Amino acid sequence: MKKMLFVANWKMYMSFGETIKFATRHFDDFVSLASGMIPPAEGENTIVLCPSSMALYPIIKMFNETKIKIGAQRCSPHIYGAFTGQDPARSVNEIGCSHCIIGHSEARREFRLSEEQVAQKFVHLLDYDVTPIVCIGETKEEFDSQKTLSALERQLSPIFEAIKTKTIVHDYITPYIAYEPIWSIGTGEVAGNQHLDMVFCWIAEKISKNFENRPAGGAVPQIKLLYGGSVTAKNSKTLKKIDKISGFLVGGASLDFQEFEKIVK
Ligand code: 13P
Repeated sequence: MKKMLFVANWKMYMSFGETIKFATRHFDDFVSLASGMIPPAEGENTIVLCPSSMALYPIIKMFNETKIKIGAQRCSPHIYGAFTGQDPARSVNEIGCSHCIIGHSEARREFRLSEEQVAQKFVHLLDYDVTPIVCIGETKEEFDSQKTLSALERQLSPIFEAIKTKTIVHDYITPYIAYEPIWSIGTGEVAGNQHLDMVFCWIAEKISKNFENRPAGGAVPQIKLLYGGSVTAKNSKTLKKIDKISGFLVGGASLDFQEFEKIVK
């Protein structure tokens, strides 16, 4: 039985107050969902809740000493300095986040992130022992004109280069790559398993090709793959059949506890 990661990306769907209310109302539900999962001996599944940044600290406090993990929805590509409105990876670590979503298509679009900036975030998170969840995905036009793989290549290459230039990649951190076709996010449209199977095999092969000749002294990162884009309780059963998928990044459906629970179960 493989370990699965279930990430609830609450985006900006709830205000600070609504987030606290929602998490308080479902505190016992989340805790029992996390602890009632597959026994550790068979590999423990993990649930990561990602509230918006203002709600991070109280949510971390609330779930402290439970099996629920908390992730940030963003971090800065910079380490320190005059960057109004940003928070560095160091702070993401210091307040107690285990994970951080980066390169989400909504953030790439809104903040005009370059591929290099996403790669910088990735490296800073690794430096501060936070598990990066880096999102990649193609537009509808790229999908329709069969340019999915070249779009993914463009997004992955700087990440791989950044990892290669790092001398130490701690083997206790498993970075995640989340394939989220942009046209699938919030639309109810999900690519067929054949397309997804092809894409996930391609990414897995890219990872092994990029790191098989990594020089001695640099650990080979154990990168795992997630799927995101209109995941529901109904389609998650089919999506779980895709061999290379190690979990889901869930947006809209994570706002309904019962729906999220069904996805996990
Ligand atoms: P939806 O599940 O709402 O399509 O969102 C997916 C997503 O963007 C998760 O990061």
